[in-house]
Amino acid sequence: MLSNSPGPIGIFDSGYGGLTILHGIRQLLPQYDYLYLGDNARAPYGPRSFDVVYEFTRQAVLRLFEMGCHLVILGCNTASAKALRTIQQNDLPKWDPTRRVLGIIRPTAEIIGDLTDSRHVGVLATEGTIKSESYNLEIQKLYPDIQVSGVACPFWVPLVEYNEADSPGADYFVKKRIDEIMRKDPDIDAIILGCTHYPLLMPKILKYLPTGVRVVSQGEYVAESLKSYLERHPQIEKRCAQGAGVHYLTTENPDKFKESARLFLHEDVEVENITLG
Ligand code: DGL
Repeated sequence: MLSNSPGPIGIFDSGYGGLTILHGIRQLLPQYDYLYLGDNARAPYGPRSFDVVYEFTRQAVLRLFEMGCHLVILGCNTASAKALRTIQQNDLPKWDPTRRVLGIIRPTAEIIGDLTDSRHVGVLATEGTIKSESYNLEIQKLYPDIQVSGVACPFWVPLVEYNEADSPGADYFVKKRIDEIMRKDPDIDAIILGCTHYPLLMPKILKYLPTGVRVVSQGEYVAESLKSYLERHPQIEKRCAQGAGVHYLTTENPDKFKESARLFLHEDVEVENITLG
């Protein structure tokens, strides 16, 4: 039985990447309570099949609902690409049709029309997100004049998860994918970081990207979109508790989460271990 009292806004990611989304959201909407869940024990999701990403995400969202959330944001592009639609259409009506799950691909696609002059856009993301073609489909629906090129960056998530984002070794992998996407379409003037881990590689991304190409990282845009969503949906907003607190959950070792979360949040956090599945 799911509770009806106001609860925190849930933010889910396969691991640490969603912390960049949580950070952006808290900057703009600090008044709400948040419950962050990282499925670190089963990350990365990027190379996993549609069915597996769907099942893992479904378990996580249900747990966040059971823990009191009325609204859950999938702070993970891979989960947004592979699981969001099915959860919204098949699971939510059975669990509780008044609860909501939102993804982060649509809000990113919505703003891209304002951020490109050349109408050539690049997407860097995990293999799963690129293969799903979600960005191309969403952007084409909204802006049929924009040409989208995607490149998967398989080693970028482990570089971040293993705290190697600033190491000299990371240069090779970042340069390789930046060169690849700019070769694919030299007219690109805006690149979407379509994986929530990638903002941690920002210094190196900027180092290898030609000047004049804009980097679009999702945190601030997802936050703007959530703010507007809550304004347009007062019945959901009033069920989001306003205690300005954050609680963190991980399926991995909490000490490990704490250490890595510091890289993303620049502060120490209290973390609780949970088991999914
Ligand atoms: N942070 C996830 C995303 O935005 C990817 C990490 C993973 O591969 O698990 O796609």
